[in-house]
Amino acid sequence: SYNGLALTPPMGFNDWQHYRCDITEQTILSNATALVTTGLARHGYNYVNVDDCWMASQRDADGVLQANPATFPHGIGWLAGQVHRLGLKFGIYQDGGYRTCGGFPGMYGHIQQDADTFASWGVDFLKLDYCNQPTDQYPGDSPAQVAKIVYAEVSRALLSTHRPIVFSESAPAYFCCTGPNFTDIMSWVGDTGNLWRFGDDIQPSWSSILTNYREDNTPGLAAHAGPGRWNDADMLLAGTAGTTPTEQQSQFSLWAELASPLLLSADLGSLSPQTIAMLSNQDVLAVDQDPLGAQGTIVHSDADADVLAKPLANGDAAIALFNKSATARNISTSAGNAGGYRLTDLWSHQTTETTGTISADVPAHGVALYRVHRSKASWPPPSVAIVPDVSGTRVTI
Ligand code: DGJ
Repeated sequence: SYNGLALTPPMGFNDWQHYRCDITEQTILSNATALVTTGLARHGYNYVNVDDCWMASQRDADGVLQANPATFPHGIGWLAGQVHRLGLKFGIYQDGGYRTCGGFPGMYGHIQQDADTFASWGVDFLKLDYCNQPTDQYPGDSPAQVAKIVYAEVSRALLSTHRPIVFSESAPAYFCCTGPNFTDIMSWVGDTGNLWRFGDDIQPSWSSILTNYREDNTPGLAAHAGPGRWNDADMLLAGTAGTTPTEQQSQFSLWAELASPLLLSADLGSLSPQTIAMLSNQDVLAVDQDPLGAQGTIVHSDADADVLAKPLANGDAAIALFNKSATARNISTSAGNAGGYRLTDLWSHQTTETTGTISADVPAHGVALYRVHRSKASWPPPSVAIVPDVSGTRVTI
């Protein structure tokens, strides 16, 4: 981690997917309060991040960013203070170009000034979008080289404030997920930031979950993940309309398997007890937040099902059986430890002892998630890679 922050994937709230530009300081505060009253904050959901559309349309006479006086009348410093009083951290949004995607003043040309403003307001997290890119300022440089100049400058400006500010970069998403610009950007994002969006904006639908899941499995991407450096598959849909509870649980399971940040985007004050319980599943959260920081990868895939494996710090592995299809089906794989192993189903919390296959009847669009426990003498160290055997379905751990 370039700044010592976000050693596990950031968790919390971001307003964008659910509210878009329809936000006020009250929206942010009521969701912050709900993180506490639901108990989600105790489970680690502690960032409260404001996205686009918080700004006034102009900077002030000194060039300082201002909040929209109609929707954020008390200002961002006040709002950050209120969030801090709840024991939570506060995040803000800016754009590395001339204007944000919503058309508000961008950071380009004001990079150090805005970093200082954010620090003075008590900001703990910055998401830097990349609409309206300043490529015209750097004729002869590739779009990726321009992005590097901008993001590196913001990164340095944040460090120079001496305030710990987690840095979320959106540049890769504008070049997803192949080609020279994408490869170039992926070669430096982890040196200048803590997490980065590489794929599409999540939408409230199953097809959007599948798209972002596939993008997060772009070959080579997992190698970029580690403590303080995360591929961000975008916000969770739990608690919103457009997807079923099974699909929301699948997204949560897969994002944990892929070590993605877990940023909720819903009206958190009206989450059902079932949704709160799902998001509070400590066994699943431990997969996401595992200190080794490895991103799970697909070890077997066919048209209907994927098997993923994620090595964990204590030598265990998290195995996901993902039914992509629209009908229930049995999915099985096997862990190749001759000594046998213990297996915990992280949703039913049942533990079994087996030397055979890991197998589950998985509902349509469902995910079965297991922790395969390190057992006895024959267990290899955590650095041993998880690889499929020749048949493609055996997981060697
Ligand atoms: C594009 C980003 O990818 C979204 O997450 C959101 O920040 C919007 N821009 C805001 O305009």
